[in-house]
Amino acid sequence: MTSTKKGFATIAIHAGQDPDQWNHRSVVPPLVMSATFKQNSPALPKRFSYGRIGNPTRNVLETCLAALEKGKHAFCFSSGLGTLTAIIGLLEVGDHLVVGDDLYGGTNSYIQKCSSKQGMKCTFVDMTDVQNVIDAIQPNTKMIWLETPTNPLMKLTDIKAVAERLKSRPDIIIVVDNTFLTCYFQKPLDLGADITMYSLTKYMNGHTDVIMGAAITRRDDLAEKLQFHQTVMGIIPSPFDCALVNRSLKTLELRMQKHMKNGLAVAMFLDSHPNVEKVIHPLLSSHPQHQLALTQQTGHSGMVSFYLKGDSKRFLLALKIFVLAVSLGGYESLAELPSVMTHLSVPEDVKVKLGVTDKLIRLSVGLETEDDLIADLKQALDACR
Ligand SMILES: Cc1ncc(COP(=O)(O)O)c(C=O)c1O
Repeated sequence: MTSTKKGFATIAIHAGQDPDQWNHRSVVPPLVMSATFKQNSPALPKRFSYGRIGNPTRNVLETCLAALEKGKHAFCFSSGLGTLTAIIGLLEVGDHLVVGDDLYGGTNSYIQKCSSKQGMKCTFVDMTDVQNVIDAIQPNTKMIWLETPTNPLMKLTDIKAVAERLKSRPDIIIVVDNTFLTCYFQKPLDLGADITMYSLTKYMNGHTDVIMGAAITRRDDLAEKLQFHQTVMGIIPSPFDCALVNRSLKTLELRMQKHMKNGLAVAMFLDSHPNVEKVIHPLLSSHPQHQLALTQQTGHSGMVSFYLKGDSKRFLLALKIFVLAVSLGGYESLAELPSVMTHLSVPEDVKVKLGVTDKLIRLSVGLETEDDLIADLKQALDACR
């Protein structure tokens, strides 16, 4: 199926899934578990040779991901951080990278480790102001790594402005972690990024039963290197997990629409509650970058952060539908305290500077009935006064 003029849901359901590519013409792509493939003659495989190098089920998923992102090449890895490892592997010792100051804790820790142990230099900047990114650029800068919206403070970066200001430096690779919004709400490659990366573990899979990541690009030169890393680093997902994520993409549009609806309803409810100090949601007009959210994103996921007036632990323990757990983007609603959970590894002074305090709660609003979610939050807020 050619994906250029089709709608998002049509691409999600059909790209890479053509039944005619299989002898048995199964409508659902087969789960091929084989670790190796019979060759036509020595060193002459028909299509696939060895499961780490390529697998039909993984190939179906990668084709679908590339089409959804409007990219040319997609590569799946065994986790979001595995994807980060493969992308950072594009850099050489002595290279400099500019990184957002409010990244997911694991990404932050890995990049810190690279700069101390692997001889790369990195500068962490507040990317809400594009000028900060430009000011941090050095002659040896080779990569910009950004999340927009950030996790958990939902700070936005104007991807298009960054790409336009870096036109004179084509040697700098712009990477956008699009985990929070997915390609349904934001297309970083269209905005000028070189690589979109995902923790597919989150919304893209959406069923909280797979750990996986992906990198998607239009650039043949980067694709060649990423494919090499996928093959030689060994950080590949299992065919079974690929089949699950491929299945999940079929409902991505529906899920994201409902996550947005429930998330917005929750944000508006919290905004009106006396026990809530402040709500952070890009689609609320109170968000400092609300206008950018309206132009850069076509919507927002179920991620909502807020500062509580009461006791955070009492609030979290009082919840009955929201589950106290890390991660996000699944059909079930989750609540967590970033300061001691997802962002525990972020240095204390950085957390204070960013505002990741013990009053900051992060919600991943799921697909349950809206009224039930609001009733759950209401009773928990009442319980923590
Ligand atoms: C924005 C973001 N990027 C990357 C990751 C890492 O992904 P994974 O847990 O699949 O390795 C996470 C995990 O929470 C995340 O939230």
